[in-house]
Amino acid sequence: MSSTVGQVIKCKAAVAWEAGKPLVIEEVEVAPPQAMEVRVKILFTSLCHTDVYFWEAKGQTPVFPRILGHEAAGIVESVGEGVTDLQPGDHVLPVFTGECKECDHCKSEESNMCSLLRINPDRGVMIGDGKARFSINGKPIYHFLGTSTFSEYTVVHVGCLAKINPLAPLETVCVLSCGISTGFGATVNVAKPKKGSSVAVFGLGAVGLAAAEGARVSGASRIIGVDLNSDRFEQAKKFGVTEFVNPKDHDRPVQEVIAEMTGGGVDRSVECTGNINAMISAFECVHDGWGVAVLVGVPHNDDVFKTSPVNFLSERTLKGTFYGNYKPRSDIPGVVEKYMNKEMELEKFITHEVPFSEINKAFDLMLRGEGLRCLIRMEH
Ligand code: APR
Ligand code: ZN
Repeated sequence: MSSTVGQVIKCKAAVAWEAGKPLVIEEVEVAPPQAMEVRVKILFTSLCHTDVYFWEAKGQTPVFPRILGHEAAGIVESVGEGVTDLQPGDHVLPVFTGECKECDHCKSEESNMCSLLRINPDRGVMIGDGKARFSINGKPIYHFLGTSTFSEYTVVHVGCLAKINPLAPLETVCVLSCGISTGFGATVNVAKPKKGSSVAVFGLGAVGLAAAEGARVSGASRIIGVDLNSDRFEQAKKFGVTEFVNPKDHDRPVQEVIAEMTGGGVDRSVECTGNINAMISAFECVHDGWGVAVLVGVPHNDDVFKTSPVNFLSERTLKGTFYGNYKPRSDIPGVVEKYMNKEMELEKFITHEVPFSEINKAFDLMLRGEGLRCLIRMEH
């Protein structure tokens, strides 16, 4: 047993003191895990749009000071009371949404929207006692998405940790903790393209390229990438995207262009932009009779989806999905195995790396729209 069990740990964390201001590496105190909680030593974390979005705190309730970060990989340091399925030394991926295994959603084969541990960006405290486990000189530093992985140590509810194969390289499977599973799962679990079929992917960021990777491993023969930014096309070739459409190059709706390219529409489409017009196009570009469109991107609060009901009567299906429909504890270990068995590729998503002390560079890269994922290596 390590000497830190039951003790407060002092370690480095990147604290967001104010909206939009560079993170500051501070020494923080991390309290021991309470009932149903686990303290995790983070080894790798990566930056995702959701971190930037809540760091900017535009139009949301600001929760500061806060430790951001949710895409990560680490090792269990100690466990609180009642935790039976994890022990110190286990390798884990923290996940921003959980699986309590007891609620109606967790018991349903179809849902991954756990009632107890579903994503809640406004909450800055642990659900057990409503307190933060991080502090500086006794003042609380708030949590983010139940994960707060921009810290050498963090405390996470056991229901938000996927226990993975200890042989899996943490610096690579780290990206399965959020974005890549979201896009990949949207295709393989929800759109479910058949071998030889056509798939359109709207938005060629990390999430869309993960959706394309899902189409590639499903054996789709045509993967049509749609993006307003043609710079994305070169990179997308590595992800099996076979054709490209930039809506800006056409003076008619992109759904018409796609219908013409495919003799009536694609078999499946996956929308990974968060743009309402792309969502509508993604639905209207699927083939009548059997086409299925899946929405993944997060829209603006006041967006409204408008289409003719005839599009449904003519047997098109519209679905939406959250975290690729994966249940974090039950399903994510299996996704890691897919990577281990070389059934999916992950390295190509990691385009940059910085040491933890230079975490703000990862924010700069994302704000400039450069690369896909920037890996942040902790410096224990
Ligand atoms: N049509 C086509 N492409 C679009 C459109 C549009 N109307 N609007 C935006 N895009 C493209 C952008 O040019 C960009 O290349 O979508 C891509 C989105 O990529 P990223 O910004 O890198 O986002 P990513 O991390 O992949 O996440 C995609 O999923 O998690 C959600 O809310 C997040 O909505 C975002 C989406
Ligand atoms: Zn649940």
